[in-house]
Amino acid sequence: MSKTITFHDYQPQIESLKNAVIAGLSKTAKSIPPKYFYDERGSKLFSEICEQPEYYPPMIERTILSNNSDEIAYLTGTDRLVLEPGAGSATKIRLLLEPLQPSAYLPMDISCEYLRYSAAEIVDDFPWLPVHAVCVDFTHSIPLPEAAPDSHKLAFFPGSSIGNFTPHDARAFLDMVRKTINPGGMLLIGVDTKKPTGILNAAYNDAAGITAAFNLNLLHRIRDETEADCNPENFEHQAFYNQQLGRIEMHLISRCRQTLHLNGDEFLLDEGESIHTENSYKYSPEEFIALANKAGLHLVQHWLDEEALFAVYLLKS
Ligand code: AVI
Repeated sequence: MSKTITFHDYQPQIESLKNAVIAGLSKTAKSIPPKYFYDERGSKLFSEICEQPEYYPPMIERTILSNNSDEIAYLTGTDRLVLEPGAGSATKIRLLLEPLQPSAYLPMDISCEYLRYSAAEIVDDFPWLPVHAVCVDFTHSIPLPEAAPDSHKLAFFPGSSIGNFTPHDARAFLDMVRKTINPGGMLLIGVDTKKPTGILNAAYNDAAGITAAFNLNLLHRIRDETEADCNPENFEHQAFYNQQLGRIEMHLISRCRQTLHLNGDEFLLDEGESIHTENSYKYSPEEFIALANKAGLHLVQHWLDEEALFAVYLLKS
């Protein structure tokens, strides 16, 4: 069988870590966006997080997808153009490709190198499937290459990545997805649920310390890739569920009063002061369906595990 892979480079602008650090440390409530977690070491640490027993989402989502793949394909129909913003290693889509029989698969990622690698692996394992790999920052736009087949679309957005947006930005993202997949489009999306605080806190404070290493890796990057005199040893990982806002918050807490120097500027951190690095919002099914409705997407079906720890929604525009 023929193997077809086409590469489309939309040349995403990667904003510099240095500028993000200067901007983030200049704020009264210091913060650095979570996208800077994902250098090579950060991506490896994230893969390791996904294997920790406390971090339940990947395993449960995979089980939901594989147990329900035939029903999903029945509801979507075959021959759709399947697009996956932020595809990364493109592992979960593998559970659906045989039943879905897409007209083509479009993995999209900001990291062109990683995308080339994972797209090539998909083509090796599914030689019948045309693959159009799209290198783009999907948070800004979701371009569909002209060469891709003009069939009805199915967007796939697993892993509760939607939780890393604020609810306002999540709605804007869902709106952009709806515009991209219209007419007749569908979205299959994995979203983490609200649950007892103990389970959530454990998931972001695994006993092996991998999530801590992932969070602290940001400081290793700042030390190695900017001229900041940053000592990662002077910080500790903190993650907790903020019940009022319905989100896990990750912070890097300064262990002492210290001053970081960068670009001729001085950034003073008090002992105990935080650099906020990530939010991970959790949604009850009612909350998520209401958010999707506001973005013009309507529920077709949803699936949860027995303990309602994770949910997968199929929506249509
Ligand atoms: C990628 N994202 C959905 C993960 C999450 O759960 O918010 C990132 C993560 N941060 C710490 N552990 C996992």
